[in-house]
Amino acid sequence: VSLKSYNTFGLEHGCQELVIADTTQELVSRCVRLYREQQPMLVLGGGSNVILCEDFLGTVVLVKTQGIEVSEDDSNFFLTVAAGENWHNLICYCLDKGIAGMENLALIPGTVGAAPIQNIGAYGAEFNDFCQWVEYVDLSSGLLYRLNADECQFGYRESIFKQQLSGKVLITNVGFKVSKVWQPNLNYGPLKALYGTGVTPRQVFDCICETRMAKLPDPQVFGNAGSFFKNPVIANEQFNSLVQRYPNIVGYPQGLAQTKVAAGWLIEAAGLKGYQIGDAAVHERQALVLINQGDATSDELLALSGYIIDRIHSLFGIKLEPEPRMISTKRGAF
Ligand code: FAD
Ligand code: EPU
Repeated sequence: VSLKSYNTFGLEHGCQELVIADTTQELVSRCVRLYREQQPMLVLGGGSNVILCEDFLGTVVLVKTQGIEVSEDDSNFFLTVAAGENWHNLICYCLDKGIAGMENLALIPGTVGAAPIQNIGAYGAEFNDFCQWVEYVDLSSGLLYRLNADECQFGYRESIFKQQLSGKVLITNVGFKVSKVWQPNLNYGPLKALYGTGVTPRQVFDCICETRMAKLPDPQVFGNAGSFFKNPVIANEQFNSLVQRYPNIVGYPQGLAQTKVAAGWLIEAAGLKGYQIGDAAVHERQALVLINQGDATSDELLALSGYIIDRIHSLFGIKLEPEPRMISTKRGAF
């Protein structure tokens, strides 16, 4: 079965069997069975953070479960959301219901169930700012567990689901807690212009959507997986010595001792904007995004990614790490 329309990079690889699970019960029973039988299995949401490195010789399970439940107390809204709900639809649903706070995270592709895995973030907000708990099934025992947000080890593009629990669990539901007192989060880039304007949640949402559409390629036009590399976090001393050589380098303090460097700046400064291998290319408007110009193969993409990693390492002494999950049958998602 072709997976081209199930991965936003649009890579032409297939799998042996494709299962579409639209109830939690079916999702859980399918995945637990495959896991126990030690069948190669790949759980996919929107396919917006995966790079299929080869055909997947096993079963792909698509998470299509739906459902949003809302409750409230005097201070907060509480939402229970099924893993298969589309992330952006959830943001729109909240805005329509007057549940404001998450609008900085508008237009991030993918499902709610995948959001905790890399603790999605954009424009000064992160998933963990709103997460109350994550419910998952332990695939070996079939038992359901709930982790509170502080047990999920959330960090920048990190969580327990990429570490100890990687490949061992299926996320089924996510719990959100959103304060009834709306605090606009306007610290980042273009949002700053909205300070002191009596801004509404809808205006923040619109600003985010416009900014994202201006910079990030639409996967329907050019296949992509968002940022291809994480922004590297380096020691302040290393950053300071880079500033001596490259006064325009962009970085943001990360705690007291470290700096998060804009990898897009490094790639652009290396002269790689627009660079391509076959049909895989560095995006002209955002160098951190690699795109599929038509019929890119995974080999072309991995060659491009490897070339960028080598160039950035030799120029700046920084080792870039891919952000999307690289998928192969033997290794699963790693
Ligand atoms: P998938 O790609 O389907 O899966 C990702 C990984 O999670 C895989 O390893 C998969 O096996 C696993 N997985 C998926 N669902 C489950 C589940 N229910 N249980 C267990 N494992 C599961 N990310 C950001 O953080 N910020 C951004 O601003 C951002 N912008 C993007 C812009 C574009 C144009 C694109 C294409 C991507 C962007 N991303 C961004 C990356 C992506 O949107 C997120 O990582 C998103 O959470 C992926 O969701 P998904 O459902 O598509 O996951
Ligand atoms: N920059 C350049 N040239 C480029 C791209 C960026 O010089 O080609 C510099 C600019 O100075 C810019 C800075 O890098 O000010 C940061 O760029 P941008 O605001 O576009 O954000 P980013 O660091 O490239 C991160 C996330 C995005 C998220 C945006 C907005 C990572 C890996 N990426 O990108 O997330 O949407 O911030 O908050 O942290 C994703 O994870 O897939 C993703 C798209």
